[in-house]
Amino acid sequence: MRKQIAAANWKMNLTYQQGEKLADDLLASQYELKANHEVVFGAPFPYLTMVADKVKNAEKFSVAAQNCSNKKSGAYTGETSAEMLVSIGVKYVILGHSERREYFNESNQLLAEKINIALENKLTPIFCCGEPLNIREAETQNSFVEVQLRESLFHLSADQLKQIVIAYEPIWAIGTGKTATSAQAQEMHAHLRSVLAAQYGKEVANEISILYGGSVKAANAKEIFGMPDVDGGLVGGASLVAAEFAVIIRSLK
Ligand code: 13P
Repeated sequence: MRKQIAAANWKMNLTYQQGEKLADDLLASQYELKANHEVVFGAPFPYLTMVADKVKNAEKFSVAAQNCSNKKSGAYTGETSAEMLVSIGVKYVILGHSERREYFNESNQLLAEKINIALENKLTPIFCCGEPLNIREAETQNSFVEVQLRESLFHLSADQLKQIVIAYEPIWAIGTGKTATSAQAQEMHAHLRSVLAAQYGKEVANEISILYGGSVKAANAKEIFGMPDVDGGLVGGASLVAAEFAVIIRSLK
């Protein structure tokens, strides 16, 4: 059974104390989590140890970094390696977020390197893909995201691919309040799965969790997560409010 994941991406928000309170409030809330459910807090680097410590004894909760270096170690001032993240109890790393692609010029090729180094260190990548508005308006989103997958993931073996979580985040829906409709999300997720199936076979494709991201909130999570090819969400703004994110966690199918 595919994992259903509610992943928070705090981005560059919250002070340390606010992050602590948010994690505490969420860990203290009541959920009926199923065996294949998982909750992931994507915290800023300086808070990862603190969050990792809090989730250590909370079954089904884990922590994600929002980036890692494409290099193993060495003279790369300001960078953080996959090995470092694993050594402090981080389980996931968000890679290829559209904000990193846009503001930090991350290419599909660079992301392929980051995916490799994450997997070598047994850090699970949450690989983000998604099209900008002009591509959606030109109705070429399917081939656009296919290239993102092909260039960053398709060098992997089937066993490696199975370690990855994919997040589809249409850029026009991020932080805009403009969510893709559940039908649009399902359509793209089914397309992504068919692209994976064509390359790796149906069985492998059916094992990959594909999260939706872009203005997910308490009010729409249940409908979006209810779609057959949507396996949870990667949530920005609404993950910063405990009461909102708790509802989103409870919306996992
Ligand atoms: P919002 O939920 O704020 O639209 O952000 C989505 C996102 O970018 C998650 O990675």
